[in-house]
This record gives sequence, structure tokens and C-alpha cells, in this order.
Amino acid sequence: MADFEQMWRGLLPIGRSSESGGYFRQPFASAERECAAWFKQQATDRGLRLEEDGIGNLIAWWEPNGSEGAAVVAGSHLDSVLDGGAFDGPLGVVSALAAIDVLRARSVQPTKRVGVSVFVEEEGSRFPIACLGSRISAGVTTLEAALALEDRSGTRFGDALERSGLDPSQPITPWLADVEAFVELHVEQGRNLVDRDAAVGVATQIWPHGRYRFEFTGEANHAGTTRMEDRSDPMLSYAVTALAANKQARLAGQRATFGRLAVTPNGTNAVPSQVTAWLDARCESPAHLEDLIKAITRQAQERCSRDGTEVSITAESVSAAVNFDHNLAQRIAGALPSLPTQAGHDAGILAGAGVPSAMLFVRNPTGISHSPDESAPMADCLAGVEALADALQVLV
Ligand code: GLV
Ligand code: MN
Ligand code: MN
Repeated sequence: MADFEQMWRGLLPIGRSSESGGYFRQPFASAERECAAWFKQQATDRGLRLEEDGIGNLIAWWEPNGSEGAAVVAGSHLDSVLDGGAFDGPLGVVSALAAIDVLRARSVQPTKRVGVSVFVEEEGSRFPIACLGSRISAGVTTLEAALALEDRSGTRFGDALERSGLDPSQPITPWLADVEAFVELHVEQGRNLVDRDAAVGVATQIWPHGRYRFEFTGEANHAGTTRMEDRSDPMLSYAVTALAANKQARLAGQRATFGRLAVTPNGTNAVPSQVTAWLDARCESPAHLEDLIKAITRQAQERCSRDGTEVSITAESVSAAVNFDHNLAQRIAGALPSLPTQAGHDAGILAGAGVPSAMLFVRNPTGISHSPDESAPMADCLAGVEALADALQVLV
């Protein structure tokens, strides 16, 4: 398992903030491109055949029987959220490369092609839709719609690709139709495996998930001279909506988070004219998600009518519930415990599009994720590699 540790050490410094210790690996920016170059080098060092598609999705092939026909693929992503952890994404990529090393050391002779994949823009940290690389691949989002998406500074997805030397008119993941099974290993983003005293588990389902943009509009004015009763302050409408979202989600046993805010003009001594806030909501069923969004919308509108402000709400992306392929999970799980997740993953997008998919989770002692404090012990990571190699051995 020296291979895993060596790869892990090679990737660790890329994109790490010296202040927080967290990672800034935003899609098509320098650190994420460095991670992609790292992956290409690892593939080359292993004698794997590398393919990059028109939007930067990567796959490294081990093809003892030729470059056509049925494929089994393992992989994850190398981008991070803003100030994210080291494990979310890279653990699955490094583990998949290490699992190939394990299979070779075991002298396994695959009858199928075996791929290690990296999908781009999984986190949605730059463009408004998460899992963009796998969504475009699976036809869930059209390339045309994706190319027009803009990041926070107004750069279009299409322009970001071209600046990275990519050509979106080239085919996108032409190999996807050949995939008989896709397995994504991921750090757990909760404490289910801690409670069950298990290093590795297998996924059953992903909760439905939506991202919504709330635009609260009011009237810009002087922070000193405007009497409190004369204001139309969209910050108040936002603040009450954030409290309402938290309360409604708690009451219903679901999840709602406002984690991003843009204030115009963003001055200390001005009542803002506009507050844009992004809501991330995750629920155990589509009906729960619909009810939660309705309740938050109603409370936002009620508050706006009291504040003299307005709100417009746009769903930026909504992902349905995913139930992972039960037979596939049983084939690869052995005695591993099974668990659901509230986090989104490329494996969920592929599963929803009819690609038989499964996920393995590696224990996370604190459960913390999307934070510099995300962690997994090396012994559990190595258990994950073994579990992934076992899974691939059954499938290839
Ligand atoms: C991705 O990690 C998500 O669940 O937001
Ligand atoms: Mn992830
Ligand atoms: Mn993530």
C-alpha cells in the first residue's frame, strides 16, 4: 500500500491554503488543473491509456484485452468546494489508481476494460450546477445550456474550457455507453460508520437535493439618516428567511442551508438595494423537498410584504432521489454495512441516467466535510482501497 501513501502525499500540497489548511481547487483554475496534470502523470506512470474529453473529464484505461467493449470504471473528482478538505473527491481517485495496483499485484486478469475516471466540476463551487461533468456526460444537462452558465465573475463555462485548452465540440465521455458498472469510493460525510464501528460501508441511496437562488430587492439608502420605519431593507427579509429555513427544516427532520450571500452594494453605511442568497435543501423524498421549499417561500414572501421588499426565487438545480443498484451493491458489498447519504455525487447522476452504479464510503471520525477539518485515518483509507479492489475483482 506504499503506492497509496505516496500518491496521497504527492497530491496533498496542491491548492492548499497556508492560512486555513483547506483546499481551493476550483474547476479550470490553476490548482485543479495541477491536480488533473498529476492524474495524467499517474496514468502514464502505470502504462494506462489516457483519454480526455471535450470538457476535461479524464479516464485512464487498463486494457489487457484491447481498447473496446464492456468496461468497469471506478473514480471520483479532484475539484473541491471553497476551503474544502483533502478527501472529498481525491480519496476516490487515488483509491481507484491504488486498486488497479492491487489487482495487478494479485495477478488478476480482467476480461473487461478497467477505467479510472475523474469528472470535472463535481462540487458546483464555480458554476451554479453541481456534478456538471457527469450531468453533461449522462445527458442530464445539455452541453448547450452548460456552455452558457456563468461563474461569479461572469466567465462562461465555455470560455473557461477554451482557456484551459479544451474543445467542447469534441465528444464527451464517448466511453460511458460501455460502462457495465461504475463504483465511486468517497470519504463519508457523516458519522454513520463511526457509530457502526466499521471502516468501510456501501451506499443505498442519495436524498433529493435542490439549489435555489433567492433575490431579495429593496431600496438603497443612507444607514444614518434613514429612519428605521422608512426603510425597505432586503437584508432583513433575507435574515428572517434564513431563520425560517432552519426552523422549517428542523421541524420536518430535513436539511436547509443558506451558505452563500451576495450583497449590493455591500457597504457598511448603506441599506442594501439587493441581497442574493443561495439555499441548499436536501430531503428524504421529493414530496418533503417540495413541502420544505413551499414553506420557506411562503415565509420569505410574508416577510417581504412586511419589509416593503420583493423576492424572486429560481431553482438553479434539482436532483431527484437516487436508489443505487441493489444487485450491484450486494455483489460488491460482502459483509459491509449499508448506509444512505445526503451528499450529491457523480455516481448518483450516472445511476439516475441508467448506468449501474455503486458507492463505497470510508469512515470519517468527526463526520466533518466541506471543511479543512475533513479527515479519514490512513488505516481506513487503506481498508477502502482493499474493499474497492475486491469490488473491482468481482466485476471485471
Ligand atoms: C457535494 O459534495 C454536495 O453534496 O454538495
Ligand atoms: Mn465528492
Ligand atoms: Mn463535496
